[in-house]
Amino acid sequence: MLELDDVVAGWHRVRREGSRAELEDLWLEPERIGGGYGRKLFEHAVRIARDGGARALEWDAEPYALGFYERMGGIVIGETPSAAEPGRRLPRMRLTLAAARARPQRGGA
Ligand SMILES: CC(C)(COP(=O)(O)OP(=O)(O)OC[C@H]1O[C@@H](n2cnc3c(N)ncnc32)[C@H](O)[C@@H]1OP(=O)(O)O)[C@@H](O)C(=O)NCCC(=O)NCCS
Repeated sequence: MLELDDVVAGWHRVRREGSRAELEDLWLEPERIGGGYGRKLFEHAVRIARDGGARALEWDAEPYALGFYERMGGIVIGETPSAAEPGRRLPRMRLTLAAARARPQRGGA
């Protein structure tokens, strides 16, 4: 959750699913759009996914936010039928997470 001036300005939800994580939600109050907060939220979601050990973050994007997500490094990997609106399809996106953790050394001292 992103709080600005003690008011909730946006949030995201990340759910771990095996080796990948699902970005279930990313939302910003309309008056905060365009101020760099979307990037902050997305980068926070990436950190949580990576720290949880996920190797990829995936999500269903709102079509009008596609450009934002591409700017964040996401790529379209398919389409998901919208659960909310029959007939509507949402771009399915993925960000591959770089190996962030040092692997434990085997053997050696
Ligand atoms: C999509 C959303 C999260 C973007 O947040 P934002 O705070 O406006 O984005 P930022 O200001 O952090 O922008 C980060 C970069 O993405 C770019 N960008 C933002 N929205 C974009 C768009 N729709 N298309 C292309 N680029 C976009 C910005 O220009 C910026 O580029 P820069 O790195 O060159 O500066 C925000 O608009 C939003 O919450 N919208 C309403 C709810 C919503 O659509 N949620 C997504 C549901 S899946």
